[in-house]
Amino acid sequence: MSARSRKSKPASVPLAGCRKPHLLMEPLSARCDKNCLLSFSSPPLGEIAQRVSRLRKVFFRSLLGVVVLAVSACKPQVKYPLDTLAPTSDLTKSIYDLFVEVTVLDIIVLIVVVGALFLGMLVFSTRTGGPREPSVKHSDMYLEMAWTIIPALILLAITVPTVRVIIQTQPYSWPKNTLPVEVIAHQWWWEFYYPTLGVETADEVHIPTGQTIHFQLFSKDVIHSFFMPQVGGKRDVIPGQENQITLIAQVPGEYYGQCTEFCGDSHANMRFRMFVETPADFQQWVRHQLEPPVKRADGPAAAGAKIFADAPCAICHTIRGVSGFSKQYTYGFRGPDLTHFGSRSTLAGSIMDNTPQNVAMWIRNPDEVKPGANMPTLGLGGAEMNELVAYLESLK
Ligand code: CUA
Repeated sequence: MSARSRKSKPASVPLAGCRKPHLLMEPLSARCDKNCLLSFSSPPLGEIAQRVSRLRKVFFRSLLGVVVLAVSACKPQVKYPLDTLAPTSDLTKSIYDLFVEVTVLDIIVLIVVVGALFLGMLVFSTRTGGPREPSVKHSDMYLEMAWTIIPALILLAITVPTVRVIIQTQPYSWPKNTLPVEVIAHQWWWEFYYPTLGVETADEVHIPTGQTIHFQLFSKDVIHSFFMPQVGGKRDVIPGQENQITLIAQVPGEYYGQCTEFCGDSHANMRFRMFVETPADFQQWVRHQLEPPVKRADGPAAAGAKIFADAPCAICHTIRGVSGFSKQYTYGFRGPDLTHFGSRSTLAGSIMDNTPQNVAMWIRNPDEVKPGANMPTLGLGGAEMNELVAYLESLK
């Protein structure tokens, strides 16, 4: 038979030797017996076995690739500062567990759907036998029930743990020994105030392990977002509204944070550090922060203290006993509290290490280091700059 005549022959017409008429609604097995030269439904058994074998190879190779990727993702060679998959508090642990739970469910759904797709394409395709007549059935009650109930169950399996974690991580009351920490976002730095301890700091927040911490989030200007993935997750900071994060830190260490809501020129320069300490270390830090600033009787630091008091620095920055204003100060621009500036490891929104060279570079031209910064250029000369830097660095 030529290719042309084979192509033009209608698929439903029995070939010579086929005794059984081909009825559309008959089961596959009844449609054609061994005398039939042309199969309309499934390919021969041998071919199915070959296809299943090919499919098995593809499946196991893909699975191997997925396992290799998963293992390499679980053991990162580089420590990422904003790693969202390295939880160190009860809050981030519950978010991480939810992520794993939903991802595993998604992978199962993906395997079932893609598996069914490949089975249909590679094993049960009718390509070799020509086109199969479409079904004339209008509906199938069981199929329709299946594709309604199964997705509903999947959604339920995702919704229940999600709502449970939302309720768990946003409590309405806190234990008695909870430590409240006010987080006040400014363009472009973070103010941290401990109302029960009377401690104020900037860009670096210290918290103890094992104690409930209640962060109260406020903004002085525009919308920011408080993001510290390993300890505290993420929450928007909105002017005129108090948002909250409650957590118990579990692993001491230094963690990185970042504003993640575009808030102006230096949005990317609005970072912070979180120091999680043992309760004893935290108490020691608090005692040190409550001490008055160091005063030098002579030397460059003493000269620098006079420059600080006379220059515009004192208009915006508090150094307890030297300059400052009420915490209720709500107009104009306000800079970070510098009472213990020298004890911090970073400056300028945590974008630089706190070294004399970096402090001088910052004071010389703040706008160049942090575009849009509200701190003015003071125009200080060499000796004066050195004295001012020496004074700020002496504020341990
Ligand atoms: Cu603050 Cu972005």
